[in-house]
Amino acid sequence: MQRAWIGLLTTASIFLVGKTALLSGRAAETRQQSVVSVAAGIALHPLRLSPADLEIGGDLAGLPPGTTRFLTRNDLLALPQVRYTATDDSNFTSPAKVRGVTLEELMQRLGTAPESDLVIAVCYDKYRAHYLRSYLTAHHPLLVLEVNGQPPAGWPKDPGGNEMGPYMISHATFTPSFKILSQSDEAQIPWGVVRLEFRKESTVLGVIAPRGPHATDPAVQAGFGIAQQNCFRCHNMGNEGGQKAGISWTALAAFAANTPKAFAAYVRNPQATNPQTQMAGNPDYDDATVAALETYFQTFSPQGKP
Ligand code: HEC
Repeated sequence: MQRAWIGLLTTASIFLVGKTALLSGRAAETRQQSVVSVAAGIALHPLRLSPADLEIGGDLAGLPPGTTRFLTRNDLLALPQVRYTATDDSNFTSPAKVRGVTLEELMQRLGTAPESDLVIAVCYDKYRAHYLRSYLTAHHPLLVLEVNGQPPAGWPKDPGGNEMGPYMISHATFTPSFKILSQSDEAQIPWGVVRLEFRKESTVLGVIAPRGPHATDPAVQAGFGIAQQNCFRCHNMGNEGGQKAGISWTALAAFAANTPKAFAAYVRNPQATNPQTQMAGNPDYDDATVAALETYFQTFSPQGKP
């Protein structure tokens, strides 16, 4: 298995070298730039070699924006490793010994300095976790490679019976560092991570910045802060944000503007409206929190405030 895989890698490299010889200056320059990444300690593969590879994209150092590359598990295992026993990660039912690479390490090596200040983890179910620089610095999230010495095949399943590999993200411990109304800084611990993107916070959050004359109202700004931490993981605005819900920001805006009561009820307890819901409820949101979300989403609605 291992040998066949190395064989594949060699074939891919030969193919690339052969191809580069035929290409013009610009492509050769890109090739040279990916060699620079190898010198920085990581080989970026242009092709997926295994389902266990981690896809990386966004603004990668020395590559045109939007380029996708791949890292193998072995590439990741060769980087500086952090090891600890996770005791307060709700993905594990008992203390788990984890080993992996910090997102800060990956951002430093792969992102475009100093512009990249956001890491996005994309999961196979289209959920996305957004790691702002402030979060990285406060919580040091770890891309988990091994749990109790096991690769993903030996990992526990999530309560729904889903595979938690090929990658998950964890923390040694998590202490919330802020609170916006009823929404605390929440541990972002996705599983099923298949891709990391290195991006610019102002570009990505810019697409969900509130609009119109109420944009700077404190309640609207609070709603923005809550929505970027919570709703943006599953609801999208264009290509940004999670696609798990398949219901866009503008659809949520129309919902908030037209039927604010039904919006509030769904946000607090989606199961009451939709027994099959895949959305986690927010039963602890007080009235001010729900109102902040409503006024925030309403800034995207052509109807505005009802
Ligand atoms: C874990 C993923 C997830 C998160 C986080 C999430 N949602 Fe959802 N949401 C969904 C999914 C999936 C649906 C589609 C129906 C369902 O499964 O409930 C949905 C549906 C909805 C609906 C109903 C829309 C309709 O047309 O019926 C509303 C309203 C909504 N979400 C608002 C929000 C708000 C506001 C937030 C943030 C406070 C949020 N959601 C966070 C996954 C999520």
